[in-house]
Amino acid sequence: MRILVTGGAGYIGATAVDILLTQGFDVTVLDDCSTGHADSVPSQARFIEGSLLDAHTVREALTGASAVLHFAGKSLVGESVVKPDLYHEVNVHGTRILLEEMRTAAIQRIVFSSSAATYGEPVTTPILESAATSPTNPYGETKLAVDNILTQEGQLHGLGAISLRYFNVAGAHKSQRGWLPERHDTETHLIPNVLRSTPDKPVKIFGTDWSTVDGTCIRDYVHVVDLIDAHISALQKIQLGSHEVINLGSGRGYSVREVLSAASSALGHQIPAQDSSRRSGDPAVLLADIKKASTYLGWTPTRDLLAMVTDTAASFQLS
Ligand SMILES: NC(=O)c1ccc[n+]([C@@H]2O[C@H](COP(=O)([O-])OP(=O)(O)OC[C@H]3O[C@@H](n4cnc5c(N)ncnc54)[C@H](O)[C@@H]3O)[C@@H](O)[C@H]2O)c1
Repeated sequence: MRILVTGGAGYIGATAVDILLTQGFDVTVLDDCSTGHADSVPSQARFIEGSLLDAHTVREALTGASAVLHFAGKSLVGESVVKPDLYHEVNVHGTRILLEEMRTAAIQRIVFSSSAATYGEPVTTPILESAATSPTNPYGETKLAVDNILTQEGQLHGLGAISLRYFNVAGAHKSQRGWLPERHDTETHLIPNVLRSTPDKPVKIFGTDWSTVDGTCIRDYVHVVDLIDAHISALQKIQLGSHEVINLGSGRGYSVREVLSAASSALGHQIPAQDSSRRSGDPAVLLADIKKASTYLGWTPTRDLLAMVTDTAASFQLS
C-alpha cells in the first residue's frame, strides 16, 4: 500500500515517512522544502520536490497512492498574523487542490494535521473535540477551514477523513540513519528553545503570575513517535463518507518550569531562563481530552516529558 506524505521533508512528516517505511508501506513524499529539508527524505521513498499549489505536481505525487497523510503547510502563528494571505493560500487553497486531485484519482482516504489552535482560548479544560472553535490567529483559522472542508467533502463526495488536532509535538525519532531532529529555522517551540538556552541568550518564560501551580503556563506535549503511531491507526480506522476530529496530546499538562526542570535533568546542568511578562493571546492552560483517541483509534501515548526532552537533546547532539 502506497501512502502520499505531503510535508514529508518536515519535522513530523519525515518521522512519519521513516516509520511507515519500517512498517512495510510504500511512500511518496511531496514537499517544496520551504521549511523542510530534502536530506530528511530517505532514498527508499519516492520524492517529488514541488508545491501543493501546483495541481500537475500533486497529480504526479498521487500516482499509485491509496491514502494521504497531509502534513504540508505553514505553521508559525506569528508569521500567520503578518502574512494571513500566504497561510490561506498554502493551507486552505493548497488543500483544496490536493482534494480535487484526490477525487480525480479516486483516492478516498486522508489524515490531516489539524491543531489545538482551532479551539482558541478554551472555556473549559481539558478540551474536548466538541468544544467551541474560535481560533485567535490566521493559522488556527486555516486549520479550522480545512477541517470544515473535509466534513463537506465526506458529505458531498464520500471522502473518508480524520483530522488529528495536535497539541504540542515534541521529541525526536531515531531512524536507522540516525536521529530526525526538529529543524525549524524559526523555532517557536518551547522544548528546543529550552535546550538551546544559554546564559547570553536565556529562554524567556512568558508570564510567571498565571493561576497555575507555579505561576507559569501549562501545555500538553505529545511525543512525535506516539503521534505517528496515532496516524497509522487513523489510516486503518477511516470510514468513507465520514470525517472525524480527534485530539492528540498526552492528556497531561506540564508547566514551563516543569519543562525547564526536565531539561536540566536531561542535560545535567541548570538551564538558564529569564522571567518575562505575559504574551497577549496566551491561555494559562491548554490541555487535551484524549479519550476519543483512545476509544476511536485504540491509541494511548506511551512517552512522557522526560522522554521527549531526552530524545530532543540527543537529536541535537547535546547529550
Ligand atoms: N509541530 C507542532 O507542534 C504542530 C502542532 C499542531 C499542528 N502541526 C501541524 O503539523 C504539520 C507538520 O508540522 P511540522 O512541525 O513538521 O512543520 P514543518 O514546517 O517542519 O513541516 C511542514 C512541511 O510542509 C512543507 N510545505 C510547506 N508548504 C508547502 C507547499 N506549498 N507544498 C509542499 N510542501 C510544503 C514544508 O517544506 C515542510 O517540510 C503542519 O501542518 C503543522 O501545522 C504541528
